[in-house]
Amino acid sequence: MLFPVIMAGGHGSRLWPLSRRQHPKQFLPLLDESLSMLQDTLMRLEGLTSAPPLLICNEQHRFLAAEQVRQLPGLQAQIMLEPAGRNTAPAIALAALYASAHSAGQQAEDAMLLALPADHAIDDVTAFHAAVNAALPLARMGKLVTFGIPPTRAETGYGYLRRGPAVEGTNGFEVAQFVEKPDRARAETYLAAGGYDWNSGIFLFQAKRYLQELARFQPEVLAACRATLAGSERDLDFIRLDAGAFASCPDISVDYGVMEHTTAAAMVPLAAGWSDVGSWSALAEQQGQDDRGNTLRGDVLTEQAENCLIHAESRLVAALGVRDLVIVETKDAVLVAHKDKEQDIKRLVEQLEAQG
Ligand code: GDD
Ligand code: MG
Repeated sequence: MLFPVIMAGGHGSRLWPLSRRQHPKQFLPLLDESLSMLQDTLMRLEGLTSAPPLLICNEQHRFLAAEQVRQLPGLQAQIMLEPAGRNTAPAIALAALYASAHSAGQQAEDAMLLALPADHAIDDVTAFHAAVNAALPLARMGKLVTFGIPPTRAETGYGYLRRGPAVEGTNGFEVAQFVEKPDRARAETYLAAGGYDWNSGIFLFQAKRYLQELARFQPEVLAACRATLAGSERDLDFIRLDAGAFASCPDISVDYGVMEHTTAAAMVPLAAGWSDVGSWSALAEQQGQDDRGNTLRGDVLTEQAENCLIHAESRLVAALGVRDLVIVETKDAVLVAHKDKEQDIKRLVEQLEAQG
């Protein structure tokens, strides 16, 4: 059985000030007028599997998540609430333990997880389903499958997969090396060398295989997640986790924690118009640009502006003679940043949080 797991506990801080702690990017309708990115992710699963998706998010967003699920007619989803974020290695571990515990006998043995970020755009759903189906035989062999995207720039916010030999009888490849978020110089080397793909951040594997690799590389995560689930309880439609046990869990992503270490990684190419909408530039790419390379949203006036992303939410924003800027105006905060620095917007948000 294929269990979809939607990871919706991130902060989306690189899209500050649109994305906020109280209302992070995955709950916003950034690309679609009517559906949030989470809802798009849920809709994209239709026809792929009959198992209801498991949504894992922060306790703080329980009503937001439940309401967005409720708005999609006929959709059933389980919602698991994390008392605090511990990143994606633990979130997937909880899902793997949960899926194994809630299937019987051989089904538990075969439980397959499709872990999906809640905040990505995929244009071609048919191609996405085809890639997942192509990855199933690899996952059944015990591979930890990721979906590879051909790189177009020396992006430092992604994982890089060095392509190994094709896996016989499948449409996939071994991953010779997995490097999470390399610095700019390394990313440029990879791009120039060729033979690398970006990690889309979508994973397919048997629950038991993930747990085996976790036991090898992050035993503390596994132990803490087992205790967390053992102490969990049902509260209405929610699965509430044991806060005390989860507090002791290390904070680590699946990429750094497992994928960089495992020798069982494989990759299936994904050509489906993927974007992680992970930065202002990625959002601008999705929204399209005018002939001066500008993406303008809301009440914006420009003169001799080039390659800028300007988003006005509550008043007029005018820009003159500027280039390569991100300007985002909201009611209570304005961001002005150079496009080159957009990965560091995270740091501004951390500073803000430190100031309370
Ligand atoms: N439940 C839960 N709990 N979800 C989380 C947590 C957590 O503590 N932290 C992050 N998430 C969710 C985010 O909401 C997002 O949907 C997904 O997990 C991935 O987390 P990000 O924080 O967005 O990761 P990233 O974008 O820096 O990097 C990942 O994605 C890239 C592609 O977009 C990595 O997998 C990279 O290798 C990959 O290239
Ligand atoms: Mg992301």
